[in-house]
Amino acid sequence: MKILNEAPIGVIDSGVGGLTVVKEIHHYLPNETILYIGDDARCPYGPRSVEEVKEFTMEMAEALAEMGIKMLVVACNTATAVTLDMLRERFPFPVLGVIEPGARAAVHVSSTRKIAVLGTIGTIKSKAYENAISSISANVEIIPLACPEFVPLVESGQYKQKNIQPIMQKSLEPLAHMKFDTAILGCTHYPLLHDQIQEQLPAGVTIVSSAYETVRDVESTLAGFNLANISGARKEPIFYTTGRLEGFKSIATDWLGIESPDVRHIILGKPGCQ
Ligand code: DGL
Repeated sequence: MKILNEAPIGVIDSGVGGLTVVKEIHHYLPNETILYIGDDARCPYGPRSVEEVKEFTMEMAEALAEMGIKMLVVACNTATAVTLDMLRERFPFPVLGVIEPGARAAVHVSSTRKIAVLGTIGTIKSKAYENAISSISANVEIIPLACPEFVPLVESGQYKQKNIQPIMQKSLEPLAHMKFDTAILGCTHYPLLHDQIQEQLPAGVTIVSSAYETVRDVESTLAGFNLANISGARKEPIFYTTGRLEGFKSIATDWLGIESPDVRHIILGKPGCQ
């Protein structure tokens, strides 16, 4: 099967978190068209079993493959941690995740070699960041912390509200007296809470999000596979959600600065499997 340069890049996440990666692709790769699926109806993936995350992620990937994408970006750490090999075996197009780029960026930034990883229960359990970091550099101490309260705050659109401060404080309290100089936002939803997270971390900690590093990987992979769209004719992104259109639309408008994003409903999986 010939993969077309003009074909869109597919981006998937359990919900609106992958929009943090879309924002970077949209900005840095102005020729590329994006098709996005957020599985908001079944979000969060973090507390789900590995089997469920694999099944739901495969459903999103299959739907985008049918729409004719040329590359898939798994813009979800929880899914990246457990599905990359499976997706790469299944599809003819390149499949990229967000964990390796985030790990690379953090190792680059940290001078004390003590790095905190904030993520979902699934990502922290998988030890995917420990594995990625140790394959880049030896002797880095990782301080993992699951923050299961954060994704619901973002999905419900409360990420800008002042009254979430006590939740942020309680979730990040275990890090208050720890020594580290870098914190990875190991969940693509967390950049929407960047300032609130920074406020609760010890002074001087640098926050790293994988979104920017991921777009560098997208760019080099497009070049490597000769898949970049050089025709310069990008189309507006289309966003599919399994959840409520209005909630998705308002976060997409706010985060991406797109006035009227094209948000559509999609049904995935078997009925009742939500
Ligand atoms: N954005 C997903 C991630 O990066 C959120 C996971 C969830 O749905 O719990 O892990």
